Parts: sequence; C-alpha cells; structure tokens
Amino acid sequence: MTRDEIITWLREERAPMLETLWRLADGVRRENVGDEVHLRGLVEISNHCVRQCAYCGLRAGNTALARYRMSGEEILACANEAAELGYGTVVMQSGEDYGLDAGWLAEVVRRVKRETQLAATLSFGERPDADLRLWREAGADRYLLRFETSNMELYERIHPALGGRKSDRFEIIRTLKRLGYETGSGVMIGIPGQTYEDLAGDIEAFRDLDLEMAGVGPYIPHPETPLGRGRFPRAAEGAEVPNSELMTYKVIALTRITCPQANIPSTTALATLNIAFGRELGLMRGANVVMPNLTPAKYRPLYEIYPAKACTRETEADSGGGIRERIASIGRTVGTGRGDSPKKAGRGESGKAQEKSVGAGL
Ligand code: 5AD
Repeated sequence: MTRDEIITWLREERAPMLETLWRLADGVRRENVGDEVHLRGLVEISNHCVRQCAYCGLRAGNTALARYRMSGEEILACANEAAELGYGTVVMQSGEDYGLDAGWLAEVVRRVKRETQLAATLSFGERPDADLRLWREAGADRYLLRFETSNMELYERIHPALGGRKSDRFEIIRTLKRLGYETGSGVMIGIPGQTYEDLAGDIEAFRDLDLEMAGVGPYIPHPETPLGRGRFPRAAEGAEVPNSELMTYKVIALTRITCPQANIPSTTALATLNIAFGRELGLMRGANVVMPNLTPAKYRPLYEIYPAKACTRETEADSGGGIRERIASIGRTVGTGRGDSPKKAGRGESGKAQEKSVGAGL
C-alpha cells in the first residue's frame, strides 16, 4: 500500500467502503496470526517519571499526582496471578524511573522467568543501552517503546530533551532489535498538530521498522499537561487527524494490512472511548492481543497517563474477569501459549542463534 492509498483510507467516511476495509483487515489477521487472542497481563510497577512529555499525566512536572513504586514481592505476586489466569505474558511498565535500579529490575526479571513460564515484556521508557542489555541477559523477551509520531518536528515539540540529550526513539528501537528483543512500538492518534500525512508516515514506519508488535490508541487530553491545556500549535483545519474511535479502527486495520504478522493489541485507550464494545471492535478490525490490567487496585488510579482510563472504571472486565467470554462472543479463542511473534517462528535456527549471542552487535 502506498502512502497516498493509506491517506485515502484514513480519510474514507463512506460506510460500505469502511466495511470493505474492516473485512480486508480481518482476513489478513486470520490468515497471518489466526483466531487466537493472546492475553498479556499488564503490571504498572511505578508511576515515577523523569521526563516531561507534553501529553502524559505521569510527566515529572505533574506535581498533583501521588507517586508509587511497587516492591519486588508485589510485582512477583502479579506475575503469578497472570500465570494462574492462564496468560502467556506479563508486561511490566513504568514511567522512566531511575529509582528503579537496573540491577534490581534484572533480578525481578530473573525471578519472573525462574518462577513462571511467562514471556516477560518490559516497557520502562528510554533507558540506557547498558540497562536494556542487562535486562535482556536476565531473560526479558520483549520491549515496548512507542515512537508516538514519525513527524520529527512534532516529536521534538512534545518530547523535551533530558539533560541536553535529545530523545531518539528510532535509535533505541534499532538497539532493541540488535539485542534480540521482540520489539514493539506504536503511536497516538489525533495528537494536536498531527496530520493525515504524518499518520500515514507512522504506518509506513511500522512496516519499515519490521516490528514484532504495534500498538496504537487515541490521544486523550490530560488537564494536568501542557498539551491537554491547549498550549500547542494545531494543524490547518481539515489537515489535522481527529482523536476519534473511528480513526483508531482505521489505523488498526491499516497497520494489520501493512504489517500482516505483527501482534497488535486492542488497547485500553480505545476501550476508554467505547467501554461497551471498543475492545471487541478492535479485535474484529485487525487486532489479536488484549492486555488486561493486573496492577493492584490501590495503585491503579495513580497510573493516570490520561483521565478516566477504562481499567480504572471497569475493574472486572479489565482484570481479566469476563474477558474470555467477550473474546468467545466474537467467535475467537484465547491463546494458550506465550503468543510469541510468528515472524520469529519462521526464522528457525538462525533466529535462535541470534538470541543466544545477546548484545553481540553492541
Ligand atoms: N493519551 C493517550 N495515550 C497516551 N499515552 C501517554 N499519554 C497519553 C495520552 N494523554 C500513551 C503513549 C505511551 C503509552 C504508554 O501511553 O503512547 O507510549
């Protein structure tokens, strides 16, 4: 699909044409990753953050937020819960928090890998290469780092440098791949100033980066952030992408078509816009992964990257209760294994060899 074709689909409004897009994406999904929906238990281990991302409620400048850090025991208990619920993966996520010592986190990863059969996914922000390498050597399987937008000017506007060091997530993504992580990235949809051209470029970037995982969700304004207070330039009328539910489905569908073998989640941000059926519609229009939130209830409202997150409203469904029924109700099955990237399976022995020589390329 060319950039112009992607833009045409992003601008499509006619219901019968959109039905065609959904059918196309659903077919590509079935053919490449099958009917299984993989469940990944999400544990938000710390909401401390040193960064000042203009859109995110966890930004260091948000002094209205009470901060927490989970203990190793608490994290392990959540991982064990994921295993007991029959999930194949635990995803540990946090703000960019150097109070989480790299060596300490490596020990947590080792314990998760020793005590459970789970795949371990990390999402701890733009940590130094040495940390990423240490965690990989400790047994971490996957890493998530969204690049948020491929428009570099917009990117730099909403991601202030830290200590004079410019933020370059594309560079880190390349490092993650070299280290042998299954690598995931993604973007927000409808960032103020983001154009259709930009969003089409994002989808092309997913393909060019050859990602194992791609996660997208609508931008949701947070009142305690500069972007949420409307302090940033907007694109011209008609050129700017809306942060809508429909636009999110279009991006999920187009991501599936351009990255047929990727693992694609139906995200919490999408469920936040349509609590009743958003997750299901994401799964019906290209997605094949759900990440139920297993963060202990007392911390959950504090991981407020944007307001009214679905998982703080419908504890039941988002803690995994009901999720199996919801998946069955749309004719899908729950994945039984770890839900590794099918791309990797195709790589065979050479893929394994690459995994063994972790970090050889660094
Ligand atoms: N609206 C939507 N998504 C957000 N994220 C952070 N802040 C917001 C927001 N206000 C997303 C970013 C980040 C992920 C963990 O959450 O894409 O990578």
